Amino acid sequence: MNKKLYFGSNLKMYKSIKATIDYLQRLIENTKDISRDEIELFIIPSYTSLESATKNVDRNYVKLGAQNMCWEEEGQFTGEISPVMLDELGINLVMIGHSERRHVFGETDVEENLKVKAALNHNFTALLCIGETEDEKRYGISDEVLRTQLKVGLHGVALSQVGNIWIAYEPVWSIGVNGTPATADYAEKMHKVIKECLVEIFGEKALEIPVLYGGSVNPNNAKDLIVQPSIDGLFVGRAAWQAEKFDQLIREAKDTVDNQK
Ligand code: 13P
Repeated sequence: MNKKLYFGSNLKMYKSIKATIDYLQRLIENTKDISRDEIELFIIPSYTSLESATKNVDRNYVKLGAQNMCWEEEGQFTGEISPVMLDELGINLVMIGHSERRHVFGETDVEENLKVKAALNHNFTALLCIGETEDEKRYGISDEVLRTQLKVGLHGVALSQVGNIWIAYEPVWSIGVNGTPATADYAEKMHKVIKECLVEIFGEKALEIPVLYGGSVNPNNAKDLIVQPSIDGLFVGRAAWQAEKFDQLIREAKDTVDNQK
């Protein structure tokens, strides 16, 4: 069997509660026949949709995650959501350090590290997002930036927690309406840097950590990206927000991998 492929979407600040549930139910209906031994499907809706999502979708088909989390369990942190609160909802994963959190809301690597450790200590899968800016790429320091984000972001994480870490490589310049997708070659090169750094941190066990590519993934580039040896999955924004289109993207990507051999 080929390696398991990861497909997920971050819904950002889009979709009402009703639209989120409709989307999730359609996505499950469409993708039901694809064995979950072969793909891992996950969706990260808004906080306000999460509770309803956990009650209305079959998590055997889709994992649900939060877009952010505070590292403290409770306290004087107005506007924040704690791991204990997310645990009450019974969600599966927490995304940490998305590009928009880092660059619109000014989060730092040190904060991402606190969040990663809190997420893992509460038994969530921690999806740590990393990526260089356009300037950092231009200065030729992408490798250094990614290595720093990983080494700080994962500092103090125990080897026994490696099984609950996922990484998304999302170059800042590739994300959103003004983004340019990374070429498959460039993404593969960066994924190699990431995997090497993870092995440096955790040893060979780190090879279990899935590393997903995100940033303007679309039906035209998904197949080239997913066949790269160091790319384990695709983390999709806009191109995934209609269930039928995401289903088609997943199928085409998976077929391409299946037909490779
Ligand atoms: P787009 O696919 O819309 O560029 O967004 C990617 C992303 O931010 C996923 O987290």
